[in-house]
Amino acid sequence: MSRFRSVVAGIGSYLPEKILSNDDLEKMVDTSDEWIRQRTGIKRRHIAAKGETTGDLGTEAAKNALKSAGMEAGDIDLIILATATPDLTFPATATIIQANIGMVRGFAFDLNAVCSGFLYALATADSFIARGQARNALVIGAETFSRILDWEDRTTCVLFGDGAGAVVLTGEPGAPGMGERGIIHSYLRSDGRFTDLLYVDGGPSKTQTVGHLRMSGNQVFRHAITNIAASIAKVLDDAGLTVSDVDWFVPHQANQRILEGISRRLGLPEERVVSTVAEQGNTSAASIPLALDTASRDGRIKKGDLVLMEALGGGFTWGAALVRM
Ligand code: ACO
Repeated sequence: MSRFRSVVAGIGSYLPEKILSNDDLEKMVDTSDEWIRQRTGIKRRHIAAKGETTGDLGTEAAKNALKSAGMEAGDIDLIILATATPDLTFPATATIIQANIGMVRGFAFDLNAVCSGFLYALATADSFIARGQARNALVIGAETFSRILDWEDRTTCVLFGDGAGAVVLTGEPGAPGMGERGIIHSYLRSDGRFTDLLYVDGGPSKTQTVGHLRMSGNQVFRHAITNIAASIAKVLDDAGLTVSDVDWFVPHQANQRILEGISRRLGLPEERVVSTVAEQGNTSAASIPLALDTASRDGRIKKGDLVLMEALGGGFTWGAALVRM
C-alpha cells in the first residue's frame, strides 16, 4: 500500500475578545496577581462571551488555518476536533464546525484526551493520511474551560482560559524522513489510575450535569514533569534524534514552572521554548496549536524547523510529537 506523510500546510488560531486579568480575579476570589504570576507565570487569559461556544472558536481557528494553507473547505476530507468542552453532549462539535465552514464531504469527529487532545488528534489524523484514507485534514483544539470552572475555587479558576488553534495537514507521497517536512513521530500514553487527581465532577451518564473541574495541583505537577520528560526521551530516541536537533519546543501551556522544569531537565535553552502561558493561561487542547500559530506568525518557527511538542492532561493522558514544519 502507498504511504503518505502528513505535512503541516497551514496554521490558524482564534482567541475570544474578552480578557480576564489577574487583577480582575483578585476581585472574585482570595488571590493575588503576585501569587498567580509567581506560581504559574499567567498574567491574563481570554474568556468566551456569553453564547460563544467551543464550536464558534474552533470555526474561526479552522477558517484561519484554511486561509494560511491557501485551501477551501471543499479541499478538506477529515476534521478531528480535540476538546473536553463540546457545545452539546452530541452531535460532535466537529460536525458543527464542518457545517459552519461549509464542508459537505468527508467525515468529522471529536476526540477527548483533555490537555493532550491535540497530540492525540494529530497522531490520529496522521494515521488516516498515512493510509490514504484522508488527503487533507483539519486538526483543531478548541476549548471553553471557563464553562467548567468553579469560579469560587481559587486553586483552579486562575489557571485556565478559552481559545482555539488548528492546523491543516496534507498528505504527500513517501514515508516520513528526517530531512523532509511532516510528522516524523509521535508517542501517546495514558494511565487511568490517576483519574482522581484531575477530573470533572459531572457528566451525562453519571450526574446528568456538566460538572466542575477538580485538580490536586501539586500532584499533577509532579507527574507532569516525570511523564513528559520520559515521553520526550522516548519520541526522540525512536526517531533517532537528540535534543540538540530540536529547533523549537512547543509544549502544552499549563504552567511556566512546568515548562521551565522540563526544559531544564532536557537541557533545552530558554530561547528555543515557545511560551504563551502569560497571555493565554492553560487552554487545554487548544494550547499547542495556539502556541504554534503565535510563533509561526511572529517569524520564529519557519519551514523546515524541527518542532517538539508535549502535553499531559486528565486521565492521565500524555505524549509527545516531532514535526518538521
Ligand atoms: N491564590 C492564592 N493562594 C492560593 C491559590 C490562589 N489562586 N491557589 C492555591 N493557593 C494556596 C493554597 O491554598 C495553599 O495554601 P496553604 O499552604 O495555606 O494550604 C498554597 O497556595 C500552596 O498551594 P499548592 O497547591 O501547594 O501550590 P503549588 O505551588 O503546587 O501551585 C498550581 C499550584 C499552580 C496549581 C501547581 O500545582 C500546578 O501548576 N499544577 C499543575 C497543573 C497542571 O499542569 N495542569 C495540567 C493539566 S490541566 C488539564 O489536563 C485539564
